[in-house]
Amino acid sequence: MTYSVAVSGASGYAGGEILRLLAAHPDVEIRTVTAHSNAGQPLVAHQPHLRSLAHLTLQDTTPEILAGHDIVFLALPHGQSGQYTDALGDTPLVIDAGADHRLTSSAAWDAFYGGDFHQPWTYGVPELLVGGAKQREHLRGATRIAAPGCNASTVSLSLAPGVAAGVIDPSDIVSVLAVGPSGAGKSLKTNLLASEILGSANPYAVGGTHRHIPEIRQALAAARTAGADPDGADIRISFTPVLVPMSRGILATSTAPIVEGVSDADIRRAWESAYGEETFVQLLPAGDFPRTADVLGANTALVGLAIDRAANRVTVVTAVDNLVKGTAGAAVQSMNIALGLPETRALSVNGVAP
Ligand SMILES: NC(=O)c1ccc[n+]([C@@H]2O[C@H](COP(=O)([O-])OP(=O)(O)OC[C@H]3O[C@@H](n4cnc5c(N)ncnc54)[C@H](OP(=O)(O)O)[C@@H]3O)[C@@H](O)[C@H]2O)c1
Repeated sequence: MTYSVAVSGASGYAGGEILRLLAAHPDVEIRTVTAHSNAGQPLVAHQPHLRSLAHLTLQDTTPEILAGHDIVFLALPHGQSGQYTDALGDTPLVIDAGADHRLTSSAAWDAFYGGDFHQPWTYGVPELLVGGAKQREHLRGATRIAAPGCNASTVSLSLAPGVAAGVIDPSDIVSVLAVGPSGAGKSLKTNLLASEILGSANPYAVGGTHRHIPEIRQALAAARTAGADPDGADIRISFTPVLVPMSRGILATSTAPIVEGVSDADIRRAWESAYGEETFVQLLPAGDFPRTADVLGANTALVGLAIDRAANRVTVVTAVDNLVKGTAGAAVQSMNIALGLPETRALSVNGVAP
């Protein structure tokens, strides 16, 4: 069977990357691409690297134009998806790259986003530990999927094994991330101009204000087995992203205290058992740490783990490409699982170098 697909936000970074991956997918036909201010223009005017899709023209993003496809991807600014998702009730599979359907708590949505709260959808991070199993079990047959925030999934994948195994204390997590500006989208913003970024490292959303914080707390709370506080009220994270001069990529360094009495072998085993069988989340050998360059263009999260006994903390360094494993790759991988296709279809574990 060939699935018909519509991709909204197709002139943007996330929509463009979804299209790049789907263009190589044998089971889908990209029938419709939509945008907003750029509707009416050829897709390749905004995505000149997508040569195989040169026949497509950006249409308006309306419920009528998105309806009638087997699969709809929404890659819109947060707060915009809800109006379309309500109108796509008959669409068999809808995948939202935005934040609108990620959070289970309306209080967290109000505190970090504001505007209308929409019901949570199945979270699109297949390798995440959830109550002793993996999130992919929940994705099988799913019809509504919320792809993750790129920083959120990077930190959640970094720490979920330690939280689930009870070897780290989640009440004192510190995460500092080096992030590329493509994570903030394509629209013009002064702080994202080349003149502001080149030759500089710029912190932003410092002091507990970043919107991905509640998503991380939710994912880490879900990583625990039954009995733990499901809201994760005891999970505390100090989260500081720093914009650095690379187009794509996230390097997340996360630390958390080691629980008393836990051995080095217990700690390493927690991450090995979580990711030992995974294709796209790989634990590096002890002493090795990833670089963002190693995952460029790949649907891969590389995880380096150190045990710092002097500080009594575990340090996890994880590299992802924010536009692939952080968004579009997670969305396509989740689509594959939901449809019962091979999970790795159209996704590469290999990056592009140099
Ligand atoms: N960038 C990342 O690394 C990343 C990672 C994870 C999740 N996401 C999420 O993906 C979504 C898209 O992000 P992005 O980085 O791709 O942003 P972007 O590059 O700014 O693209 C935004 C897209 O949405 C369209 N759009 C803007 N306002 C709209 C409206 N009112 N109605 C319909 N379409 C509208 C734009 O169309 P025009 O160009 O025609 O105006 C454009 O195609 C966001 O929710 C973001 O949080 C992004």
